[in-house]
Amino acid sequence: MCGIVGYIGKREAYPIILEGLKRLEYRGYDSAGIALYDGSDIKLSKTKGKVADLEAKAATEINTSGTLGIGHTRWATHGVPNDVNSHPHYSNSGNLVIIHNGIIENYESLKKELLKRGYTFESDTDTEVLINLIEDVKTNENVKTNENVKLGKAVQIALNQVVGAYAIAVFDKNKPNEIVVAKLGSPLAIGIGDEEFFIASDASPFLEYTKKAIYLEDEEMAIISRKKGIKIRKIKNDALVDPYIQELQINLEQIEKGGYEHFMLKEIHEQPNAIKDTYRGRLRAKEGIIKMSGIDDNLERILNANRIIVVACGTSWHAGLVSEYIFENLARIPVEVEYASEFRYRNPVITEQDVVIAISQSGETADTLAAIKLAKSKGAFVFGVCNVVGSTISRETHAGAYTHAGPEIGVASTKAFTTQITVLTLIALKLAKEKGTISNSQFHMHLQELELIPDKVKKALKSDSHIKMIADIYKDAKNCLYLGRGYNFPVALEGALKLKEISYIHAEGYPAAEMKHGPIALIDEQMPVFVIATKKGHYEKVVSNIQEIKSRSGKIIAIVTEGDEDVKYIADHVIEVPDTIESLTPLLTTIPLQLLSYHIAVMLDRNVDQPRNLAKSVTVE
Ligand code: AGP
Repeated sequence: MCGIVGYIGKREAYPIILEGLKRLEYRGYDSAGIALYDGSDIKLSKTKGKVADLEAKAATEINTSGTLGIGHTRWATHGVPNDVNSHPHYSNSGNLVIIHNGIIENYESLKKELLKRGYTFESDTDTEVLINLIEDVKTNENVKTNENVKLGKAVQIALNQVVGAYAIAVFDKNKPNEIVVAKLGSPLAIGIGDEEFFIASDASPFLEYTKKAIYLEDEEMAIISRKKGIKIRKIKNDALVDPYIQELQINLEQIEKGGYEHFMLKEIHEQPNAIKDTYRGRLRAKEGIIKMSGIDDNLERILNANRIIVVACGTSWHAGLVSEYIFENLARIPVEVEYASEFRYRNPVITEQDVVIAISQSGETADTLAAIKLAKSKGAFVFGVCNVVGSTISRETHAGAYTHAGPEIGVASTKAFTTQITVLTLIALKLAKEKGTISNSQFHMHLQELELIPDKVKKALKSDSHIKMIADIYKDAKNCLYLGRGYNFPVALEGALKLKEISYIHAEGYPAAEMKHGPIALIDEQMPVFVIATKKGHYEKVVSNIQEIKSRSGKIIAIVTEGDEDVKYIADHVIEVPDTIESLTPLLTTIPLQLLSYHIAVMLDRNVDQPRNLAKSVTVE
């Protein structure tokens, strides 16, 4: 996955593209590049490293003037991150130039053919194959038809030979008044200004210029012309498509750091409001009502489900795991939680009576998308829980509910997790009410408690300086263990994932009782063990597990319920969170673990928002 940006209009393209790339760096940041057209020639600069490295290089390497250009920030798939493999890529003639987000799966066979036809390749990328395929098609068609075939036509013919995923932008230096874009499986938005057009992987690069956008659908391409505007066609059959222009609801402040040092910290602190935004308009505690159109409109189908299968990856999978406890406990519906990447290749048993819930912050994760397609092909009803409005997964599912968390830019998911749990809790409560598996008083109590959660998260955030002090003590640990039981077992997994991905410290999450079946052998005085030991649920059992760690000299950092007096005497450190009902504890216990990872990563001088080797949305298998 990568970020792509383009501009064609009256302004200087360079600053728009550069700033746009900075906003899209969350999508990939191992190399960056830009190609501009200044009225006479293409000027291209690219480099291994971040957009800031590109900025420094481009300033000395090229004249950055020009009113048309394309830019790219990369997360390497084919070919190591180096200058040569960075995008944009030229065709052999030097006339065409391309940026690409996605993977061309049949690039090797296409490359073989092109090599036979005399093409040469500088890079190891699939993208260089694609631009030369386009060039080859163009040259052949020119000969066949005895006229100069348009770039759009050549792109279309070439894409019909391609297997894989792409969002591309291409231009031709001999036709410098248009950019051709196309999409399959990777996102592509076109911003429409006054005689100017913006291209980007999401709308953030053009928010200050226009709020009007077209999101291309899969298998669509657009010819964006300075003079003639936009023409959208189906790649397969050339049919013209009526553009659907959306009015964007997000604003610039939402995608800026707002005074915080990192997006991750900002997003951790946004959770009280994000959770409120998630249930706003859906939860009416006083009246005892939960309104969710995606559920209301499909109630029979969902209520009659034999089981729910949750598919997701990473943090979203952890939210799914929390939901297993909630659905089974409250609504008495059997739930299976599957890694989308395993599910899609496992030949799973799926029936028309199954409801599949696909959870994804980005709505673009390739494995989750493939799992959805598989489930649909077997007749299951698929419900999406996504954050990014209009994302592929939100469009591919039969129905769904947005989390409304606002843009999450830090690569480490924080508010996405808590808002996913919030949505899933609302669904479980609604189904429980409909099925009669929850008493009226329990139902009302859950709704009231849910409404109190934003303030309780605010309170949990107040432990920040205490958590920072604990982070300082354990920042040099080589390994950490995270333990929890029941609803808080997935929180232990999530806590360990947060630490791993941003601090690069090895961490394992385990169900607390499983510790004695193996991991206990790891415990010595060097091993910090983070234990979630809130008062509800299996509190006494967890306290016994804490004793077991203590007697083996492990260092214990316990997340406890406010006012807990017992664990305080056994643990090395305690971090308090407000009391709530058991099913909602994950919304609170996860907060200190997020802050802890954040502070450790900052102390270790890690790149918190853009940890190494990662990207925000994983649009490759
Ligand atoms: C977690 O911090 C990561 N960003 C990652 O595990 C993420 O949750 C996973 O890639 C799934 O992404 P999605 O929610 O956008 O589908």
